[in-house]
Amino acid sequence: MGRKEISMSNNPMSPVSVPSLRKMKAAGEKIVALTAYDYPTAMLLDEAGVDLLLVGDSLGMVVLGYSSTIPVTMEEMIHHTKAVVRGARRALVIGDMPYFSFHQGKDLTIANASRFLKEAGASGVKIEGASPKRLKLIEAMVEAEIPVMGHVGLTPQSVNLLGQFRVRGSDGAEAAKILDDALKVEKAGAFAIVLECVPEDLAGRITRRLRVPTIGIGAGPRCDGQVLVFHDLVGYQTGFQPKFVKRYADLGSIIRESVKRYAGEVRAGAFPDEAHSYHSPSGKKR
Ligand code: KIV
Repeated sequence: MGRKEISMSNNPMSPVSVPSLRKMKAAGEKIVALTAYDYPTAMLLDEAGVDLLLVGDSLGMVVLGYSSTIPVTMEEMIHHTKAVVRGARRALVIGDMPYFSFHQGKDLTIANASRFLKEAGASGVKIEGASPKRLKLIEAMVEAEIPVMGHVGLTPQSVNLLGQFRVRGSDGAEAAKILDDALKVEKAGAFAIVLECVPEDLAGRITRRLRVPTIGIGAGPRCDGQVLVFHDLVGYQTGFQPKFVKRYADLGSIIRESVKRYAGEVRAGAFPDEAHSYHSPSGKKR
């Protein structure tokens, strides 16, 4: 029996597991998720009680400075997932399968997905899309004991096919397709499904139809849980902010102002001062 199974499920400090997310849905308890990409952030978010840390491939845009998620590599994802796992005590850590890590057949997909568990220590992976081939990959990963989180609605890795990011499922046919996608991803074995940029009534309908939890981003309040990109939440970036982002802090300004004060004090010779210097035992200043 694994460590997670013998922990008390009603203890708020018990590690969050894949089955506990399903229990949270059944109990009507909202699942709190955020992206994380490094050790100190993972520690802080875990201490703040976040249930699920997603090492999203948004890493590429918010941390590595790429203009889309397309260039993100497996090596980058594994490197950052390892750091997040080191910082997380209670939260469930899920690694995002980057573009082209699951496009070259079942065996390579399972090999890549298993690296998130074996090398990085994550508890599962997330994969975008619901095409027939994608569903077979989800089935194969679950068969290989790899917990899989689905992702439907807006799927940023399809940016070159879609042409632009926009709300998905605003018309009847597209909405029906997204509901169908979600049902198929659930049937393929996913333990939860991210719904990105879909109208809130559609997200509500999907959430009611699924037995597994939905985690919304730009999908309104009726999902079983919510995820945001951490850097958006705390204002630690300067790029475009979609409508669904609520900014709870302005870290960008705090960092800029702190560094300006530091630079001013260094240039003026005010830092380092006596209080921040070591002294030789004789007490004499050199
Ligand atoms: O990469 C990511 O951060 C994501 C979330 C926004 C769901 O896929």
